[in-house]
Amino acid sequence: MKVLSHGVRAAQAGEVGHLAWVWYQSWQDAHAGIVPPELTRLRTLESFTDRMRAAVPNVRVVGPSGAPVGFCMVEGDELYQLFVSAESRGSGIAAALLADGEARLAANGVQTAWLACAIGNERAARFYEKHGWRRVGNMINHLDTPEGPFDLEVWRYEKGV
Ligand SMILES: CC(C)(COP(=O)(O)OP(=O)(O)OC[C@H]1O[C@@H](n2cnc3c(N)ncnc32)[C@H](O)[C@@H]1OP(=O)(O)O)[C@@H](O)C(=O)NCCC(=O)NCCS
Repeated sequence: MKVLSHGVRAAQAGEVGHLAWVWYQSWQDAHAGIVPPELTRLRTLESFTDRMRAAVPNVRVVGPSGAPVGFCMVEGDELYQLFVSAESRGSGIAAALLADGEARLAANGVQTAWLACAIGNERAARFYEKHGWRRVGNMINHLDTPEGPFDLEVWRYEKGV
């Protein structure tokens, strides 16, 4: 099974800095050209480090100890964050993290999970659709930033888990 062969595991506290770097770089790759510049300005390495430090007990990763190449977080009924470093895309690692996230949502009693995808993030959209997620429409997402919530219109995806 992909999940096992890619060794999805819990993140370690000492990996916060590395994971924040993966998050920052992958976020910039995928979003800097398609979201408002005011949001890109708020997405600093420091902001991702603070968020990762707070989230790390609930983060799942793939990759060597100290240098994970991708991670996933779930929150409530949301597949909240999924980021894989550029070198590891197209390898099945994202699929392993997604399957693990879906399993955690199901184990928490969620029946229909949702996720937000930036409008125009075509690679992510293709990825989610390939794995059974369905775009149900647009919604306003209240993004977490150091200056408070930032409202962004996004594609909403759902899947029965
Ligand atoms: C989204 C992400 C986790 C998906 O993982 P991945 O390893 O890249 O996914 P895959 O390669 O399995 O699938 C991507 C699909 O999009 C296709 N694709 C690549 N570039 C594309 C583009 N510009 N437009 C449309 N489709 C594209 C790929 O060919 C592949 O489809 P295929 O398997 O039918 O050939 C990863 O790309 C990533 O971390 N991106 C940056 C961060 C991000 O956007 N996170 C999601 C936030 S909602």
